[in-house]
Amino acid sequence: MSTLSLLISETEIATIVQTLAQRIDQDYCGESITAIAILKGSFIFCADLVRALKTPINRIEFISLASYGAQTKSSGQVMITNALAPNLIRGQNILVIEDIIDTGLSLSALWPQLQSQGPRSVKIVTLLDKPSRRQHAISVDYIGRSIADYFVVGYGLDFDQKYRQLPAIYGREP
Ligand code: XMP
Ligand code: MG
Repeated sequence: MSTLSLLISETEIATIVQTLAQRIDQDYCGESITAIAILKGSFIFCADLVRALKTPINRIEFISLASYGAQTKSSGQVMITNALAPNLIRGQNILVIEDIIDTGLSLSALWPQLQSQGPRSVKIVTLLDKPSRRQHAISVDYIGRSIADYFVVGYGLDFDQKYRQLPAIYGREP
């Protein structure tokens, strides 16, 4: 049985989301965006972030990148299971919404795919970042909170598909 310890409370998450939304609104200056949320982990963050944004959103898409199984370390493989049609990307300001960046493998695999489809711009927002684990360099435009190398669950994040429903974020001790 694993232990969960509170890392980021509901109230702190709400403040982080509001701050991110304000920064994004300032940068886009009312230009519209296409949001691409990466499933499954970002589903709750995406829902909260889009409601906090004043920036007009043309379209919200969801893609799946799988690099984890029932383990807390990346398998080193990324599968993009449902790539978007190129016409959804071309000429658009793309905002990629991620729950957590760990090694950077997932986003570094996605990045060239998006760029090859002629977007107007691509920016990345992540709720959480684990900079000490980075192996693949990627430029992240908006980071909610940098954390140490904990495996975290809650607020959409899972361990073996469990705990996504928790409203706060917890470190999971094995
Ligand atoms: P990479 O290594 O590609 O990993 O940057 C990003 C994806 O890995 C998952 N991930 C986690 N999921 N708790 C989770 O529930 C964690 O602590 C964690 N660290 C990485 C997540 O799906 C993320 O999109
Ligand atoms: Mg996950």
